[in-house]
Amino acid sequence: MAALKINLLQLKEHGKVAEVRQDVVHVTGLTNCMNGQLVNIGQSAQGVIVGFDPDYVLVLLVHEGAPIKPGDNVITTLDEFRVPVGENFIGRRVNALGRPIDGGAMVKESARFPIFGRAPGVLERIPLVKVMQTGTKIIDMMRPVGKGQRMLIIGDRMTGKTTVCMDAILNQRGKNVFCIYCMVGKSEAALNKIIDTFTEGHVWSYGMIVASTASDPMGQQYLTPYVAASMGEYFMHKGQDVLVVFDDFTKHAWAYRQISLLLERAPGRDAYPGDIFYIHSQLVERAGKLNAENGGGSMTHLPVVETQQGDVAGYIPSNIISMTDGQIYMSTPLFSEGFKPAIDMGLSVSRIGNRVQWPAMKKLTGMLQLEFVRFKELERLTRIKAGVSADVEKRLKRGKVLEEVLKQDPNKPVAMEEQVVILFALQNGFLAEAEPVEVKGILARLVKQVRANRPEIIEDLITNNQLTDKIKEGLHEELTRFSRSAV
Ligand SMILES: Nc1ncnc2c1ncn2[C@@H]1O[C@H](COP(=O)(O)OP(=O)(O)OP(=O)(O)O)[C@@H](O)[C@H]1O
Ligand SMILES: [Mg+2]
Repeated sequence: MAALKINLLQLKEHGKVAEVRQDVVHVTGLTNCMNGQLVNIGQSAQGVIVGFDPDYVLVLLVHEGAPIKPGDNVITTLDEFRVPVGENFIGRRVNALGRPIDGGAMVKESARFPIFGRAPGVLERIPLVKVMQTGTKIIDMMRPVGKGQRMLIIGDRMTGKTTVCMDAILNQRGKNVFCIYCMVGKSEAALNKIIDTFTEGHVWSYGMIVASTASDPMGQQYLTPYVAASMGEYFMHKGQDVLVVFDDFTKHAWAYRQISLLLERAPGRDAYPGDIFYIHSQLVERAGKLNAENGGGSMTHLPVVETQQGDVAGYIPSNIISMTDGQIYMSTPLFSEGFKPAIDMGLSVSRIGNRVQWPAMKKLTGMLQLEFVRFKELERLTRIKAGVSADVEKRLKRGKVLEEVLKQDPNKPVAMEEQVVILFALQNGFLAEAEPVEVKGILARLVKQVRANRPEIIEDLITNNQLTDKIKEGLHEELTRFSRSAV
């Protein structure tokens, strides 16, 4: 007898709602379901299977639709939960189910990807060699991020975390990097601000938003980052470079904690469930750089974590620090001093190091950090003492100039080639006579002049990333010309 062929995807199972507890529903009668499976409940609600009990299945509501009640029908297909992905999502704003929330039409998908996708294995990856240009000078100069790296952005409330991430997205314009901004559990107002920045920065042509706000069901908040990662994976597997910002993991951990308490899982440290480490590491593992046989794409993750009063040793912060390849620490004291972006270099590290940096950048940044740290130390020592020697005075002024060089305004990423020009000017004593307050203006004019007079230098830097003798000569000429015109 010929074997009976059954398409599992067409098999349906029927169950009944036994109990509803906020976002968690107990369902009886499902005997063949699996974890992570999408189920339809009642008229229009949807949920994901998140756990099992001897008598019932635990389903997390992700889409409420009409209210549900005990006795409602539950229907499953024998397939895991997949989200629609594809090129048509570029320029769109969607929720955790991949449905548009920008008022536009449904998005035509290219494929469906499982939301709990498998991270690429070691043999499918290669070491990171290219730099992800973040457009934030301090990061690009001293804590470079590689394409495929996971760099944590950590700091207290209102320290400029989102701004650093948005600058990285804004800076990808024209660089063939697909960008996803994933928002979890934030306010509607915060989301609107991001939408405005996307519009003003023309990000919609190469970016998208996956968002769930604090008022969305807990299930959606929990799933949002996984969905964003799946969207990114589609492009990564096609050989593209992808940048995903998760804003933020603290809210995501809260959502998961609430769900776990509803699921009656035993609370552990800080009332988080025991597998909170696993759920975040499973997510950031999906970042990486693929080898040529697998398309050569990459996915860079910038997860954001909010700390309480600078406590990086807290449970969630220390977990996530240990599973990323470095962190950028944003400090409240620096922010209030006016040093913005308020990146504390002492507490920020990149475990990729300067391997991914442009050779031109590497050459110019060798002593930069040491110089800055020495200046900070000197500044601290001389803060209370009046009447320092002329030599110390001079060193303080030089340090202040450097500080001005490193500062930058929000939503104004600085292109890598411009950073090279700026550093070249600084390292060649061009700013030796400048007053700190003048630095910003001088550098802006200088960059404009080089762009106008020497487009070939800018082009050469972008294509070859090297500081050749020819470029040095050209920049020297421009610096001289600039000094003369300023007199
Ligand atoms: N480099 C900067 N220069 C001047 N202002 C800045 C800079 N970076 C951020 N800001 C301002 O600081 C405020 C907080 O920035 P942002 O929203 O990025 O911080 P956050 O740490 O993400 O805050 P939250 O904790 O609310 O998420 C904003 O008003 C922003 O415009
Ligand atoms: Mg923020």
